[in-house]
Amino acid sequence: MIFERVVRPRLFAIAGGDAEAAHEWTLRRLAALSRRPAALSALRARYAVRAPRTVFGVDFPNPVGLAAGMDKDGAALPAWPALGFGFVEVGTVTARPQPGNPRPRLFRLPDSGAVVNRMGFNNAGAQALAARLAALPRPLGVPLGISLGKSKATPLEEAVEDYLASYRALREHGDYFAVNVSSPNTPGLRALQDRAHLDALLAALVGEKPVLVKIAPDLTEPAIAELLEVCLARGAAGVIATNTTLARDGLAPADRERGGETGGLSGRPLAGRAREVVSFVHRETGGRLPVIGVGGILDPDDAARMVDAGAALVQLYTGFIYRGPALVRAAARAWTGAPAAAGTAGG
Ligand SMILES: Cc1cc2nc3c(=O)[nH]c(=O)nc-3n(C[C@H](O)[C@H](O)[C@H](O)COP(=O)(O)O)c2cc1C
Repeated sequence: MIFERVVRPRLFAIAGGDAEAAHEWTLRRLAALSRRPAALSALRARYAVRAPRTVFGVDFPNPVGLAAGMDKDGAALPAWPALGFGFVEVGTVTARPQPGNPRPRLFRLPDSGAVVNRMGFNNAGAQALAARLAALPRPLGVPLGISLGKSKATPLEEAVEDYLASYRALREHGDYFAVNVSSPNTPGLRALQDRAHLDALLAALVGEKPVLVKIAPDLTEPAIAELLEVCLARGAAGVIATNTTLARDGLAPADRERGGETGGLSGRPLAGRAREVVSFVHRETGGRLPVIGVGGILDPDDAARMVDAGAALVQLYTGFIYRGPALVRAAARAWTGAPAAAGTAGG
């Protein structure tokens, strides 16, 4: 419980409670730690879990990954496996660097175990990420996913070229690529989930490396079914379900006002819908498309329920904010059926 009792209150107090300032502070600390091999080994000894599996041809030391958006520019890459993550998804990156939306754009809803964000793909661009990945002193030790998105300035009709430019810059560095067509914070982006757009996008990107499609929880089942047909026809390696939601169900009364901020909602209120989508994808494809389940995993049981719904792997974002690294370890252990022991969430 040290994280929840001691670390979290301090993090949440940074800059008068500014959530993005806390995020930046944490990333800077983790980046500094990434340059200290002894500190990384100490963390690894405490948090690493081995529960190996192979999914879409890639070997994962354990099935619990870091979701896209936490370390968009790969600033603290070596720290994540040391904190127990079995894979890391960097990005979303865009072909051109871009500042994202004006601040404030990240809001914690603590009573609901949730976050609202409208970051808008703030990132240093695909070339900068490629340079950083090329300069990593040693292999990461876990698979690296790279999430690709559309630059805000690029019109929808030129989206394929935009994704391709990022893909070409980063191709050699990723173990898989996530096509992010589901962020609610880039105007028009979600239209790329339509049959014609997605077909063109996958036709251009599918080839050498596994390509997964990240989908929105706000799609209807017929729309998801259509998207899955395209994924299967074009040889996508899997689906990541889900991104944040535009819905605002399940907020605690104290969070209703903040919940009114524009953006995507993540965390506990998303869990049920994310699981439903995972289950639908699994059923609809007869298990032919592996699913990475993400959305509202705040304790190890949530991870177990994602597995029951059909997820082959899971990812965390908001749960990491509220529960810290002990959740990663506990979720990986819950999966293997190993006793959580000292590693219960927040321990
Ligand atoms: C601040 C923030 C930024 C995010 N940025 C991205 C992103 O750049 N690309 C992406 O695919 N998902 C992004 N996400 C969505 C997460 O990867 C994840 O799909 C979603 O938050 C649901 O998981 P969670 O409930 O565990 O947070 C972001 C989420 C948050 C909270």
